[in-house]
Amino acid sequence: MYGPKGQSSGGGRPSAAPKKITVPDIRARKAGGPPIAMVTAYDFTMARLLDEGGADMLLVGDSLGMVVQGHPTTLPVTVEEICYHGRAVARGARRAHVVGDLPFMSFQLSPMQALESAGRLMKDGAFESVKIEGGEEVAEHVRRIVTAGIPVCAHIGLTPQSVHAMGGFKVQGKGDDAAARLVRDAQALDEAGAYAIVLEAIPPDLAEEITAAVSVPTIGIGAGAGCDGQVLVCYDMLGMYPDLRPRFAKRFAEVGEQIMAATRAYVEEVQARTFPGAEHSFKPNGPRRIPPPAEPAAATAVLEEIPPHWQTH
Ligand code: KIV
Repeated sequence: MYGPKGQSSGGGRPSAAPKKITVPDIRARKAGGPPIAMVTAYDFTMARLLDEGGADMLLVGDSLGMVVQGHPTTLPVTVEEICYHGRAVARGARRAHVVGDLPFMSFQLSPMQALESAGRLMKDGAFESVKIEGGEEVAEHVRRIVTAGIPVCAHIGLTPQSVHAMGGFKVQGKGDDAAARLVRDAQALDEAGAYAIVLEAIPPDLAEEITAAVSVPTIGIGAGAGCDGQVLVCYDMLGMYPDLRPRFAKRFAEVGEQIMAATRAYVEEVQARTFPGAEHSFKPNGPRRIPPPAEPAAATAVLEEIPPHWQTH
């Protein structure tokens, strides 16, 4: 387990803090090194586990609107909510780089609005970089944010904030025109200074083409194995979110099943009074010494101290 400051206490001694993964480290993965393993996180405990598991990047995605808040889309998520979850995740991330999503309508109005929202994520959310959905149309927004010293991860292909325009969570970049447009989008974002580009739900050959066409790492989700890294929603990766099961969301564990089985076992033991046992209870007090009955005079004195309007007789 861990100590209060996220330090491993397995051996009884706090382990030295690992080196934080930085934006230059992530960029350098384009040229070599293992592919980037990114995963979403929304709270301290999960962040700590994913960080200990070796995730390179933790994304506080606006997917929290769906998997944490139970909405059917990501649209209701606010900057405040991203910041709230960001602060919790940042406390659990000792090594992983922590990215915050710019939620719907926090950047679409103008590059200045995007810069202001990105600034809030960095100041109030404890993030180390921000992510923005969109192609060429947000290139100027990216330039503005990057110029202020805030690193930006771009996100093209299936951009869930445009779910209604796309007619659902559908594969993008199919056909020559759509594919060419995504290549142009990626190049515009690269030129604008994005340090990485998420490619969501696009054909794998197109993802490879984009990966070869840009100078920064691509991080795929439903974009095949040819990207410079991969990202998954942690609840999908762990088998905890049954509502939406996209083809690409491989379940690396069935934690949802385990949670339900553990809950059933707990309920059974509570009902059978086999939990808590002696090993989960504190040391008994032992037999109580009954104090001698109070003197009548003392009892009257106590009664007299009670304010008259509380006395019933
Ligand atoms: O919000 C999110 O979780 C995301 C990832 C799926 C890339 O944008």
